[in-house]
Amino acid sequence: MSQLKACLFDLDGVVVDTAQFHYAAWKSLANQLGFDLTPEQNEQLKGVSRMESLDIILEIGNVKLDEGTKQRMAAEKNQHYLELCQQMTPEDVLPGVRDFMDQLVAASIKIGLGSASKNARLILAHINMLDRFATIVDGTRITKGKPDPETFLLGAQDLGVEPTDCVVFEDAVAGIQAAKNGGMVAVGVGDPAVLAGSNLVITGFEDLSLATIQYLFE
Ligand code: G6P
Ligand code: MG
Repeated sequence: MSQLKACLFDLDGVVVDTAQFHYAAWKSLANQLGFDLTPEQNEQLKGVSRMESLDIILEIGNVKLDEGTKQRMAAEKNQHYLELCQQMTPEDVLPGVRDFMDQLVAASIKIGLGSASKNARLILAHINMLDRFATIVDGTRITKGKPDPETFLLGAQDLGVEPTDCVVFEDAVAGIQAAKNGGMVAVGVGDPAVLAGSNLVITGFEDLSLATIQYLFE
């Protein structure tokens, strides 16, 4: 029988509100190319790697670019994104996240990070949370992005737990699919209408008790 032994957290939009900065930076790139990016279209980008996101955006705008220009645009987006992140402080960790992690530590439940971002360590350092995670799986370690389960399977392996004993917290459709594809329990953070397929959807970590999550294993 499965039992809650580890929690794997996505980073952007789950631990810290960097999802808004990714969106702002992609939107301004789209605007530069002469079209707009709606919040609905942005949902397709969440959890998806930098280059894949750019491909999706170019398809939305029906713009074709050569490989060199694409690399340059992705680098520009990243620079803009990192500039926006400069305004972030440890106060920007999403409400309730630290308290929830304290509950996990008290119950000896392991904590890992599973993000597509190549900036994950940098962001975690910025918000002073690097030492909260027993393992960090980020965009520099994976070969297949979400919805492939690789990110979370690696996390479970690092923590020495079975995938079925893990809960994944995700704000992205691709991330929920990745968790399910890996045989894990998936908790959506955000809008239930967007995150269909989750075992549970929460609006945030504020007042989330460990018992609510443990209940998913009964
Ligand atoms: C996360 C975010 C995506 C972002 C991706 C790559 O999955 O949800 O919006 O595109 O990471 O991030 P990076 O920081 O490497 O560009
Ligand atoms: Mg996310």
